[in-house]
Amino acid sequence: MSTAEELDTIGIDRLREIGSVKWSVFPEAIGAFVAEMDFPIAPAIAAAVRDAVEGGLTGYLPAAVRQRMSEAAARWQQDRYGWEVPAQRIRPVPDVLTALRATIDFFTAPGSSIVLPTPAYMPFLTIPAMHDREIIEVPMLIQDGRAVYDLEGIDRALADGGGLLILCNPYNPLGRVFERAELEAVAEIVDRHGARVFSDEIHAPLVFAPHRHVPYASISAVTAGHTITAASASKAWNLPGLKAAQVILTNDADVETWKRPEVSWAEHGTANLGVVATTAAFDDARDWLAETLDYLDGNRRLLGDLLAEHIPGMGYRPPEGTYIAWLDARELGIDGSPAEFFRTHAGVAMTDGIACGAAGEGFLRFILATPRPVIEQAVRQMAAALRAHADADGASADL
Ligand SMILES: Cc1ncc(COP(=O)(O)O)c(C=O)c1O
Repeated sequence: MSTAEELDTIGIDRLREIGSVKWSVFPEAIGAFVAEMDFPIAPAIAAAVRDAVEGGLTGYLPAAVRQRMSEAAARWQQDRYGWEVPAQRIRPVPDVLTALRATIDFFTAPGSSIVLPTPAYMPFLTIPAMHDREIIEVPMLIQDGRAVYDLEGIDRALADGGGLLILCNPYNPLGRVFERAELEAVAEIVDRHGARVFSDEIHAPLVFAPHRHVPYASISAVTAGHTITAASASKAWNLPGLKAAQVILTNDADVETWKRPEVSWAEHGTANLGVVATTAAFDDARDWLAETLDYLDGNRRLLGDLLAEHIPGMGYRPPEGTYIAWLDARELGIDGSPAEFFRTHAGVAMTDGIACGAAGEGFLRFILATPRPVIEQAVRQMAAALRAHADADGASADL
């Protein structure tokens, strides 16, 4: 059987049995709201984790094991994006959000605001407040149907007290993979303000041809000088529960700062099994990723075809990267939250765009990393709910 045929056969009953967050929070609904993949992990990763457990690697994280992940991550960055980073500058952290918290605390001017292009990945909107920081939202602009940075807005936000710009590339939830020139334009502004960038590149392995991921810090000495990069195998190989990610440091001053015990404490909690799994992902599960990306490529197209056929009023542009679809429900005639409407009336649980900032109102986030028959069922259920809604409206208009 081909990969696609195998993945197509994974049914909803099986997914509920596994009981991931996606399939257990709303037991009555198709889970499409959290960025988890519904596919079995790569055999090479499963074998590496099994070997680690059976070999007794369940104590604290040994330096040699940690070092192997940094080296594998360095090889990945070099082979995949042509970015040469010394392994000793790739530090382990349990997850990308820990990296963000450390960046806010130790790499930005005290009290400075966080500049956030929106719609944004939901925790970016909640974490700054935990660090007594304000957020300046800068809604993305739409140009020829494509989301682009509002460079003047970013400039103004940095002038208004912004100290850190959060870049998410590839972009959750908009699916953009930014081109070098776009990133260069951002870099010029950040540099002019002496600000910093947190470049979240967790979705970097998930890019569809002909798009190419450009690591922001790799662009120039200027971007290397003002950026903390966060990377991880956790989205592309579905390992977020194993707790391992990487912070990539790209200038001497940041390397020195990271050495301070209160800063490198961010490494604490990185899990052996995550480190082992990540090493296997970067080194030994590249073919698995290529096959999975092919399947996801089919999924993003399939969703477009299904929406065109069954819900033509729903706006959708297939993502250039990530397995996240950003759906525009504003023309569907739904009063109130579209996510609530579809969860209650269609049995499809998605993220409401409003959770991604004011710019997301009327939109939905739908996770595409699921078997194709599940996508088809979700769209059919949504279309049926909209028809019933329209019929009910028609009936009440006739009264
Ligand atoms: C853009 C982005 N950053 C960070 C995360 C969370 O990553 P982690 O579990 O490593 O904190 C996600 C999860 O979906 C994400 O999409």
